[in-house]
Amino acid sequence: MQKREQWGTRIGLILAMAGNAVGLGNFLRFPVQAAQNGGGAFMIPYFVAFILLAIPLMWVEWTIGRNGGRYGHGSMPGMLDVLWKHPIAKYLGVCALFVSTIVMIYYTYIESWTLGFSFFSIMKTYFGMDQFDSMHGFLSSYTGAGKGYFESLWPAYLFMLATLAMNFYILSKGIKKGIEKFAKVAMPLLLVFGAFLAVWTFTVGTPDPAGHPDWSVGVGFAFIWEPDLAQLGNAKIWLAAAGQIFFTLSVGMGTLHAYASYLKESDDIALSGLATSSINEFTEVILGGTIAIPIAVAFFGLAQTQVIAAGGSYDLGFVSMPIIFQQIPMGQYLGFMWFFLLFFAGITSSVAMSQPLISFLKEQFDFSHKKATYSIGFVIFICLQFVVFYHEHGFLDEMDYWAGTFMLVIVALIEVIVFAWIFGIDKGWKELNRGADIKIPKIFKFIIKYVTPGYLLIILILWTVQGQQVSWLLEDTFGIIMPEFMKQSGGAIDTLIMSGVDAEDIPYRWASRGMMVLIFVGLIIMVKIAWKRNKPLNSHFDV
Ligand code: TRP
Ligand code: TRP
Repeated sequence: MQKREQWGTRIGLILAMAGNAVGLGNFLRFPVQAAQNGGGAFMIPYFVAFILLAIPLMWVEWTIGRNGGRYGHGSMPGMLDVLWKHPIAKYLGVCALFVSTIVMIYYTYIESWTLGFSFFSIMKTYFGMDQFDSMHGFLSSYTGAGKGYFESLWPAYLFMLATLAMNFYILSKGIKKGIEKFAKVAMPLLLVFGAFLAVWTFTVGTPDPAGHPDWSVGVGFAFIWEPDLAQLGNAKIWLAAAGQIFFTLSVGMGTLHAYASYLKESDDIALSGLATSSINEFTEVILGGTIAIPIAVAFFGLAQTQVIAAGGSYDLGFVSMPIIFQQIPMGQYLGFMWFFLLFFAGITSSVAMSQPLISFLKEQFDFSHKKATYSIGFVIFICLQFVVFYHEHGFLDEMDYWAGTFMLVIVALIEVIVFAWIFGIDKGWKELNRGADIKIPKIFKFIIKYVTPGYLLIILILWTVQGQQVSWLLEDTFGIIMPEFMKQSGGAIDTLIMSGVDAEDIPYRWASRGMMVLIFVGLIIMVKIAWKRNKPLNSHFDV
């Protein structure tokens, strides 16, 4: 077995972990989620989920990871196997490996748009497309989803290649010389860019030449932050808040574990985990909550911003912001700053997503670091072909839903149960606190054991049944009256049946599912082979 690498410095570790968590989600997904789900009222379920889900899971994941690393494991199959000596444990770990791999594939593509748009800002490529429709056409022709400026997918394809190459270049250098070194540059720069744009937001005043007095950043803040408390009774916003918390803190994927596996046995995790979460929340709530939405209200007014927000994260980041950059002095540079900030946020996240798989190939199949990195790069490259060329048919969305939204919760539930109930909360608590630089309040022992798993179970149940088919079925067949929120479509079962998907897209959606099943089965087989051939590594009695 090769000697395991280690992080160089504590600050490097924290920046790398924060880089893992801080991503596109902080700047694009968060403001849209907040705006769509009750504004300030969203922050209540958001912070409840932060305390009861994210913080406990963060600590659990770091603990599982550091412990796994001690036995030579950097990915979840091995990590769960050392916690639970049952043949099924390693296969449960495959779920995590699967999620990080799938998310890596599509996330790289979205990330590459931000690189492309940095370039288009500097070159003023989109200048002149200053109406919503024309700028929207610019974006959708770039991604192949509609007509507009671009006539082919080649620009998107080339930026995808460049992004992929940069990711794997960083990864090929390893933990300390690759990921850590890069994060030490990218994260401070990202924070400076973000702070600059946030401060700039406050200086725009009421830019509208027609002089609408209520087109201002202040009104934008009111929109995003004014609590609509009536919404608190709506299960939908509790789900959305939990989903955002999951996504933004990168829990439920095995990537925090992978990073933590390169810690020393008694390095602190309690304080470092908390520090990482705090940096993420600052970036998300303060910077992410300040830039995109308030600035849009100042330039387009509230009504139009609501339409943009309803259109989703992409419209906000890639359509409304570029229109604004065209109207301000030095817009090309601010535009570059915005998209490059997103690119750094993205790339420090996407490198994390490949790490579990790289560790897995090195540890279980004795691949050299370079060979592991490049073989995974190659597989991801192949899968990306479908993501790029079938994007317009929802290939990516299907992956985002099943791996990036649904499976995360399953992984989190598995790990917290294995940790608190099978490995045992007493042993787990001791492990978490070993080397700790802060004293974690005792109440978290209780939370990890009961509240977090219970919360996750409720989320899963709501998601699964929150579809029309199910509510009709239950109503018609058993006469059960479903509450109103369950009738809204969007539940997991609803999505399985694909109601609301364009008929012509259905084959592509199935192709996407087919690819995911293939990858999942492939990983299961690899784990099976690995455990056959690696008795000494995987039987941890004497390690
Ligand atoms: N947290 C990232 C964001 O906010 C996205 C993400 C989810 C992620 N899971 C991850 C990043 C796992 C790295 C690893 O955009
Ligand atoms: N449907 C997702 C959304 O709008 C798309 C998405 C996935 C996304 N990952 C993202 C958007 C990261 C922004 C950032 O939220």
